[in-house]
Amino acid sequence: MKHSEKIEPYGGDLVNLLVGEEKINLLKELAFNLPDITLNDHQLCDFELLASGAFSPLKGFMIREDYESVIDRMRLQNGMLWPIPICLDISDIQAQTLEVGQSAAIRDPEGVLLAVMNIEDIWPVEYEKEAVNIYGTKDRSHPGVQYLRNSSGEFYIGGKLEVVSLPFHFDFKQLRMSPAEVRNIYKKLGWQRVVGFQTENPLHRPQFEMTVRAMRQAKANLLVLPIAGMTKPGDFDYYTRVRCYRKVTCHYPPDSFLLTLLPLAMRMAGPREALLHAIISKNYGCTHFIVGHDHASPGEDAKGNSFYQSDAARLLAQDFSMEIGVEIIPFEEMVYLPDEDEYRSAGQVPDNTRSISMSGSDIRKRVRTGRSIPKWATFPKVVEELKKAYPSPSKQGFTIFLTGLSGAGKSTIAKVLYSRFLELGDRPVSLLDGDIVRRNLSSELNFSKEHRDINVRRIGFVASEITKNRGIAICAPIAPYVDTRFEIRKIIEVYGGFVEVFVSTPIEECEKRDRKGMYAKARAGLIKGFTGVDDPYDIPCSPEVSIDTTGVTPDEAAQEILLFLGQKGFV
Ligand code: PPS
Repeated sequence: MKHSEKIEPYGGDLVNLLVGEEKINLLKELAFNLPDITLNDHQLCDFELLASGAFSPLKGFMIREDYESVIDRMRLQNGMLWPIPICLDISDIQAQTLEVGQSAAIRDPEGVLLAVMNIEDIWPVEYEKEAVNIYGTKDRSHPGVQYLRNSSGEFYIGGKLEVVSLPFHFDFKQLRMSPAEVRNIYKKLGWQRVVGFQTENPLHRPQFEMTVRAMRQAKANLLVLPIAGMTKPGDFDYYTRVRCYRKVTCHYPPDSFLLTLLPLAMRMAGPREALLHAIISKNYGCTHFIVGHDHASPGEDAKGNSFYQSDAARLLAQDFSMEIGVEIIPFEEMVYLPDEDEYRSAGQVPDNTRSISMSGSDIRKRVRTGRSIPKWATFPKVVEELKKAYPSPSKQGFTIFLTGLSGAGKSTIAKVLYSRFLELGDRPVSLLDGDIVRRNLSSELNFSKEHRDINVRRIGFVASEITKNRGIAICAPIAPYVDTRFEIRKIIEVYGGFVEVFVSTPIEECEKRDRKGMYAKARAGLIKGFTGVDDPYDIPCSPEVSIDTTGVTPDEAAQEILLFLGQKGFV
């Protein structure tokens, strides 16, 4: 592939949706009378990449024809390759208040005007088709499908954007450059060939060695684009990752390496997402792009099967590399030869030579469980940073989430645990019992599915804050729905431990106890929608601990949980 001096953006022109000063004032006045659309974090990421031109040639959120064409053919309606819909979802209720042809004020969560959108299309989300065509699965344990089904609104709204302001960031301002700014730096440094590397992981030794090889192979410099939007649950946060990258940069030759944060909401769509990343890199002026094994993959489903073939992303990216105009460099597996004290690509290890390797997820698990990490696997200063941000379980916060029917014994076990943790005294502890929460946080809510979900999400949010600040949260709601429990597990596991305790006492026993007389009332029809009587309870599939309190004392039940926590190193 020949590289011209000026590396063309995808589609020929680098889009910049920011309007000039005069237009800004006009739009601000106009927005005064427009309906508002408030973007969430996911949408803010898409918005920022549209506005800055990282998604060139898109000039706004997709309209229906592009959406359908992207889903069906992986192309925009004009025939250009585009792998993933970039659409703005809104709720059913909001869709009813908007009309094609009018404009809307696009705002950030604090109400600041970001853009004015000319509404060209409003149409219902095709959940199933989008899930199957984009993610290759309807399985909700896939984070992309989970977002689509649980967090996305019922309608999409499409149209061009006139941008007044990019979303505000108060962190790492020097590391937030637009494609145009990055291209100017290339010009200043005289870079003509650039290898792009997008990652949601720290650079460990194999990644470092591989990027150096890629730079030598392509005779190019390196642009690292760490993902600073949504990544996979369990990934290290980008603040920590940036501190880690800074420890690694000194190992590259001077002026051969550039880093800018990429506010991308990853969909974890594997092969299709690899194409999107290649397009973004092209817009950032890269001539080459590294695609690894399991690129943008969410890992395994609940049965332990991978969502995508390990080399599917690389193969698809290579198929379309000419069309995108970026040369794909496969990330070869790098292994360490302990006798030679060097890294080689796995395919180049001579017979009878000892080699070892440790993947990024092995390192992640070791950090999170407090185990040591050998020097050959990553740089000691990176380990230092990771351990500072992710201390061993004995120093992490955690949430104990007791779920089960009314009267199963959740509150009693929760109270025993609360006292035990106070006795131990090594972390602050909070009790979020169902009754306490209903009284203090959720007094306006009833027991409909919608309100139960709100209630449980509130508990999840408070517990995640406690866990983040290295305390102990003991929660004891019924929390009858599996999806909501899964959702809050994901939020909390980012910060520390999540121990789901299924208090599995059967309904006959709960009803026999009937301390509050609620079952009697429910059976008599005086209370409608009572869990276990005429409202569902989803049995947890794989709780960390399961306890039937029939014939077990509260102390014994609490002991079982404490022993589990001891085994995992939390206490
Ligand atoms: S949920 O589903 O998680 O929001 O429920 P939660 O906040 O834990 O509240 C459960 C307690 O509220 C009493 N109660 C009911 N439970 C279930 N269904 C209905 N319709 C209902 N109405 C009132 C019930 O006594 C629960 O108390 P616990 O402490 O679980 O016995």
